[in-house]
Amino acid sequence: MVVGYHRPTQIVVDRAAIKANITAEKKTLTDETVIFAVVKADAYGHGLIEVAKVAKDAGVKGFCVAIIDEALALREAGFVEPILILGLTKVEYAPLLAKNKISATVSELSWLQEANRLLSEEKLAPLAVHLALDTGMGRIGFRESEPFLGAINFLGSHQNTLNFEGVFTHFATADSSNDAYFKKQMSKFNELMSVVSDRPRYVHVSNSATSLWHSACNGNMIRMGISMYGLNPSGGELKLPYALKPAFGLTSELSYVKEIHAGDSVGYGITYQARENEWVGTVPIGYADGMPRKMQGFKLLVDGQFCEIIGRVCMDQLMIRLPHEMPNDTKVTLIGQDGDEMITAQDVATYAETIHYEMICALSGRVPHIYLN
Ligand SMILES: Cc1ncc(COP(=O)(O)O)c(C=O)c1O
Repeated sequence: MVVGYHRPTQIVVDRAAIKANITAEKKTLTDETVIFAVVKADAYGHGLIEVAKVAKDAGVKGFCVAIIDEALALREAGFVEPILILGLTKVEYAPLLAKNKISATVSELSWLQEANRLLSEEKLAPLAVHLALDTGMGRIGFRESEPFLGAINFLGSHQNTLNFEGVFTHFATADSSNDAYFKKQMSKFNELMSVVSDRPRYVHVSNSATSLWHSACNGNMIRMGISMYGLNPSGGELKLPYALKPAFGLTSELSYVKEIHAGDSVGYGITYQARENEWVGTVPIGYADGMPRKMQGFKLLVDGQFCEIIGRVCMDQLMIRLPHEMPNDTKVTLIGQDGDEMITAQDVATYAETIHYEMICALSGRVPHIYLN
């Protein structure tokens, strides 16, 4: 991926906000409960390595990623903390995981059997394994006691190659005001856990939403994702028990300013026509950067004033109507504060009919990051 370092469009990440969010979460936890920072998907678009450094400074005890390459990138950058891959890894990589002390999520006994065979051929420290329990998410994990117990017994009898490090589940509705399904999942989790006689080092069920609104269920590790980045997991449906500070900002500049006349059109498909003479600014960001094509009508901040996107968002540029002539290079805020006004990731997501998670992940890639504080 070519990153646009010489273009004025930037993701601005506030390190102090990430630290403050971790510190605030830590205050709500018992002494036995640790935080693993969820830094998958380039730390939700904030930048994997920088966020991992900040999170480590703030006292997290480990990291969660989605895929093996993210875990290897952390190891290559020198992180020695535990790393758990939340998704499934092809069993042929079991030796690579073990060599790099990366913990695997496992859903099937056959994975353990094949991993054991591969690992027996090498002289490596045992591979750490977290057994996933599918209590209602319908994604990965053991669904019944018998195969789960089979996996536990296999781990118990193959300790030279495999280490039963954790067991976990994931909730589908922890961010909802209706907790009926959450309770159903929790009781399924308790039912499945009743077959575990020796609990592993980590028993974990909490993403951000679970820890914020169902903390009584917390195991002894929190998989802290979106709240670490300062966003309310529920969007706005549930009130936060403590304040979060958004860490993600997105800014650019006007690259070209011109006056158009009544009747002139703007953009592909001529979906905007000027009613009178109007000043128009072009901003160098588009849907290839993760700004959805359908944002026509949304208002960005230009020098602290709201200005409407006119015409369809193009691949690399978008156009806005200005209140008057403004110089090239005037600051444009797409997410963040300018003066007294603010655009949140949630505002952009609501307009784009999605969730803030998707917005911030999608805005990574071609846009470079700068780090404050
Ligand atoms: C298994 C698992 N745990 C934790 C998280 C972190 O969730 P959140 O960002 O809502 O805290 C995720 C994210 O998708 C996940 O898949």
